Amino acid sequence: MKINGKDYQSLWREEETIHFIDQRKLPHTFEIYSARTIDDIAYAIKEMVVRGAPAIGAAAAYGMAIGNKNPERTATVLRTTRPTAYDLFHAIEYMTNAIQQGKNAFTAATLYAQTIISRCKKIGEHGEKLIKDSTRILTHCNAGALATIDYGTALAPIRLAHENKKELFVYADETRPRLQGVLTAWELYHEGIPHVLIADNAAGYYMRKKDIDLVIVGADRIAKNGDFANKIGTYEKAVLAKENGIPFYVAAPASTFDPHLKDGSQIIIEERAKQEMTQIAGITIMPEWISVKNPAFDVTPQKYVSGYITEDGILKK
Ligand code: MRU
Repeated sequence: MKINGKDYQSLWREEETIHFIDQRKLPHTFEIYSARTIDDIAYAIKEMVVRGAPAIGAAAAYGMAIGNKNPERTATVLRTTRPTAYDLFHAIEYMTNAIQQGKNAFTAATLYAQTIISRCKKIGEHGEKLIKDSTRILTHCNAGALATIDYGTALAPIRLAHENKKELFVYADETRPRLQGVLTAWELYHEGIPHVLIADNAAGYYMRKKDIDLVIVGADRIAKNGDFANKIGTYEKAVLAKENGIPFYVAAPASTFDPHLKDGSQIIIEERAKQEMTQIAGITIMPEWISVKNPAFDVTPQKYVSGYITEDGILKK
């Protein structure tokens, strides 16, 4: 991704140190978080220094490389960071096999990260075909370069269509409570892609006004029948899209498809801290006595999905 004319990836390796764009600080400050230990990596994943399923997977792969002397313990620490994104578990398994086969762990993790980037680029090339001139696209959360090292999943088709000079417009859901939609707006702003940020509950208004032609979202885990988990609020956007006759696509690489789960009912949904709801930028906006629930994801049944944009093409069911 281009930031002020300079190419960046959301995370990168320098010898045995892993650097991350600190996503907690965006869009106000651009800071780098550097991880040298397994605990640094686990903290980065838990606290959302790094976030988005494919990027979390790559962070875990590098974590396994840092802790390659004791892969079982490292895997146990990393598995407990966040439960929903399948990429995390996929990367740990990939690295466990590589270490068992005697491969150089840092080389294997770097290859894992490069594979994610090239898969996302291919997602962009396939998905770009869905975007015609003057298409208005709604996306939820952030499934851009920040979430995937580069290109993005949902944002990859948008970025490639823009590079191919197609005129398009993006509606980015704000995505309460962590406001990942602001990260999407930040990426689009730096890429020069026309967009607006909307409150989560404004999407239906724009759909009904026929201001949205296409919805593309990412995914954190996709079950064998096509049900998928994504950022909380995705399900209601899918239902609204169907009601309004708007195509609804899910963009994800193979590392997000969980071959062990029959359907979405088996996906574990992460519950995050109350403070994510009661505070904004460290400022408390609700009284202390208030009781809140904060599920980070929901599951959308496959019947709402028009297709899955993958590195191998657009799959229907
Ligand atoms: O909690 P996050 O920010 O890590 O969740 C990420 C998402 O849910 C994204 O929407 C996404 O589509 C998956 S990552 C490309």
